[in-house]
Amino acid sequence: MIRFLLNDRLVVVEDTASDTTVLDYLRGNTETSTTSHEKRTGTKEGCCSGDCGACTVVVGEPEGDQLKYKTMNACIALMPSLHGKQLLTVEDLAGSPETNQRNKKGELHPVQQALVDHHGSQCGFCTPGIVMSLFALHHESAEDKPDVLEALGGNLCRCTGYRPLVDAANSLANAQADDEFFRNRQQTLSKLQTIEQQGSVSGSGAFIPTSEGELAQYLLDNPDARILAGGTDLGLDVTQQLKKIEKLVSVKNIPSLQTIHEDNNELVIGSAVTYRKISPLLTKYFPEFAHMLDRLGSQQIRNQGTLGGNIGNASPIGDTPPVLLALDASLDLRHGDNIRNIPLNQFFLDYKKTELTSGEYIARIRIPKKPHQLKVYKLSKRYGDDISTVLAAINLETNGDGQITRARVALGGMAAIPKRAELCEKILTGSPLDNETLSQAKAAIRQEFKPMSDVRASSEYRLEAACNLLERYFMELSGQNVRIICHA
Ligand SMILES: Cc1cc2nc3c(=O)[nH]c(=O)nc-3n(C[C@H](O)[C@H](O)[C@H](O)COP(=O)(O)OP(=O)(O)OC[C@H]3O[C@@H](n4cnc5c(N)ncnc54)[C@H](O)[C@@H]3O)c2cc1C
Ligand code: FES
Ligand code: FES
Repeated sequence: MIRFLLNDRLVVVEDTASDTTVLDYLRGNTETSTTSHEKRTGTKEGCCSGDCGACTVVVGEPEGDQLKYKTMNACIALMPSLHGKQLLTVEDLAGSPETNQRNKKGELHPVQQALVDHHGSQCGFCTPGIVMSLFALHHESAEDKPDVLEALGGNLCRCTGYRPLVDAANSLANAQADDEFFRNRQQTLSKLQTIEQQGSVSGSGAFIPTSEGELAQYLLDNPDARILAGGTDLGLDVTQQLKKIEKLVSVKNIPSLQTIHEDNNELVIGSAVTYRKISPLLTKYFPEFAHMLDRLGSQQIRNQGTLGGNIGNASPIGDTPPVLLALDASLDLRHGDNIRNIPLNQFFLDYKKTELTSGEYIARIRIPKKPHQLKVYKLSKRYGDDISTVLAAINLETNGDGQITRARVALGGMAAIPKRAELCEKILTGSPLDNETLSQAKAAIRQEFKPMSDVRASSEYRLEAACNLLERYFMELSGQNVRIICHA
C-alpha cells in the first residue's frame, strides 16, 4: 500500500503493480497493468527512458525540518518511490479554484508566466516538463540553487531554442518562491510525517521498509526481490527491456541508508544517498569526482540516482566505480545481521556479476580521506547527460624526487567490469614521472585490456583514448599546459 500526497491530497494506492511507472499512473496508460490512475495527461511521454525530460514532475520530501523540491523523470520512476513524498505535476501549478487566489484571477504561476514572457514555448510538448524543472529551480534555497543550465540540462526542446528558456529561468533567479506550495510547506511536512510514522508498508509486490533490520530480514526471506533505490536503472528494465518485476523492496525510506558520516579517516556514505546530496561533500574533498558527477545523467537523474545503485547495477560503463576504485573505496555488505567490509576492487567479478551473495545488499560506501592527486576524465559523445565511452580515474602518489610511489589507474568502458589497470599500476610504481615510464605504462594498458567495439566506439578508439588520458594526466601532473578543444 503506497501512500503519498498528490499536491495536498492523500493518495493510497493498493491495486497497482509495484513496477508501474509514475507516468503510467498519472496518465492512465491502459496498456499497462495500472488499475488506479489519475488521468492527468499534462505530464508528457517522449522517450520513456529518462533522456528527454518531457515527463518531468516534482517530488517534495522532508530534509531535516525543510521541504525540498526535486525533479524526477516520471517515465522511469516506479510507484513505490512515491511513498511518503509529495508529488506535484504541471496540473497543480494551475491551483485549485476554491483555495487558490491566483487561479481565481486566472493568473499563471510565476514560472509559467516567465516562459510566456520570454517566448519559451512553440509546439508546447516539452513545456510541462520545462515548467516543472523551472518550478524546482525556483524553490531551491540560495545555497543549493544549481546553475540554470544544470537545472534545464535534462529537458530537450526541439522547437523553441534554448535561449528563451534560459532567459525565462534567469528572470526568476533572484525571486524567492512565495506561492501556495511555499506557504503550505508546514502542513505538507506534517502530512508527510504522519505517513512516515505509520512505518513499513507492503502490497502489490512491493515492500517499503523503514529500517535496515527489516530490509535485511526481508531479503533473507525473499532473495529474489529486486532492490529499488533511485530506480534510474531499474526503471529502464521495465520501460526498455519490458521486464516484469514481481517483487520489489525499496530502500528510499530507510533513514540510515540516506545518511553520510565523516570522521578524520573516511567518508561513510549510505548506499541510498543521491548524487545531488553527496555532491557538496565530494566538492570539498574530491572536487574532480564532484565535477564528474555534474556530467552524470541530468539533474532529474542526479536527484534520484544513488551511489549504491550505480555500484549494484555493476555496469561496465557506470561512472562512479572507476573513481571509487582509484580512491581505494570499500563497501559494507549486509546479509541478515552480518556485515562484511570488502575493497571495491574485489566486488566486480564479471559482466553484471558481483560479490553479493543471495539476500545480501550494499549498505555503505567507505572512501578513505587520504591525500590524493585524483583526476577523472569522462569521454562521451555529448558533454552532459550521456553515457561514458571511456572513463579514466587516475590517482598517483609521487615523492619529492618526482618518483611515483603509489599508482591507481581505473578504467570504465574498457572491459566487462569497471577495472583497475593493475599491470600499468605495477609499471608506474617506483618509476619516475617521465616519458619512458609513460610509454611503458601505455603498452601495459594495451596488453591488459581488450575493449569491445559497439555503437559508442571501436575497440581501438577506446584503447587509444585510455592511453591518451594517461598521457594527459602525466602532462597535467608535471604542470604542462593541456589545451582542451571542446566542440560544443
Ligand atoms: C537518462 C539516464 C542517464 C544516465 N546517465 C548516467 C551516467 O552518465 N553515468 C552513469 O554511471 N550512469 C548513468 N545512468 C544510470 C543510473 O542513473 C545510475 O547507474 C544510477 O546511479 C543508478 O542508481 P539508482 O539509485 O537509480 O539505482 P536503481 O535503478 O534503483 O538500481 C540499480 C541496480 O542496483 C541495484 N541496487 C540498488 N541499490 C542497491 C543496494 N543498496 N544493494 C545492492 N543492489 C542495489 C538494483 O536492484 C538494480 O539492479 C543514467 C540513467 C539514465 C536513465
Ligand atoms: S519521457 Fe523522456 S525523460 Fe521521460
Ligand atoms: S516547444 Fe516544441 S519541443 Fe519545446
